[in-house]
Amino acid sequence: ASVAVILPAAGSGQRFGDQSNKLFAPLAGRPLWTHAAETLLRRDEVSCLWLAVSPGDREQLEEQAAMLSRPDKIHFVNGGAERSDSVAAALDAVAQAAEASIQWVAVHDAARPLLRAEDVSSVLACAAHTRAAILATPVTGTLKRGARDQSACQTLDRRGIWVAQTPQVFSLDLLRQAYASHRGRPATDDAELVERTGHPVALVAGAADNLKITYPEDLAVAEALLQSRTHLS
Ligand code: CTP
Ligand code: MG
Repeated sequence: ASVAVILPAAGSGQRFGDQSNKLFAPLAGRPLWTHAAETLLRRDEVSCLWLAVSPGDREQLEEQAAMLSRPDKIHFVNGGAERSDSVAAALDAVAQAAEASIQWVAVHDAARPLLRAEDVSSVLACAAHTRAAILATPVTGTLKRGARDQSACQTLDRRGIWVAQTPQVFSLDLLRQAYASHRGRPATDDAELVERTGHPVALVAGAADNLKITYPEDLAVAEALLQSRTHLS
């Protein structure tokens, strides 16, 4: 059974604040979105990778996709206003392409370039048993709930609290069911929609450095982390 990858890439990078989409920012000499795309494309079990994009970014993304190792696996679809609209559009495209062998969908933020191959293996293996698994890391900071005016706060028990990452992997049927009623109830990740169906979503501990590039300073951190990886290997 094979895996379809969905890369939501149709954001506008408001918090990053560049003229062009943050996904085009160079990281280790190439566009930041291509790092995770390449990690996923190289896997034999990944039969196709769908990029949900803004129409204005499409041409540039297509040119860059042509330089990757397996451009034949890459497809494009127009995204939507919210991340969940973009994933929904790609999910429809995956279902319409109707490759009967596709049983799994892995959704990964195009803005998370530092994804490790071994974490992809772990989350795929877990999903094969549970039908729904996400990479996540235990919260490390101390959590406070603040009063609305910030004049007081209360410490929350952080035991059992995780930060969700991507990839998030689901059986195609389950994710389609979860997305069937998503409109009007946007979620910040795909697992939340699956949770609403009542199906449990398993947590798989991933590397803490699988960070999402949100602010410009995240790019410098990612650059340093990539550097240290190449020095070690
Ligand atoms: N995304 C998407 N469609 C949207 C919004 C976001 O496909 N309507 C994608 C982004 O391109 C990104 C991922 O979802 O790869 C995670 O979103 P985020 O980090 O929030 O990126 P942006 O929405 O682009 O950034 P911002 O929220 O700062 O505008
Ligand atoms: Mg966003």
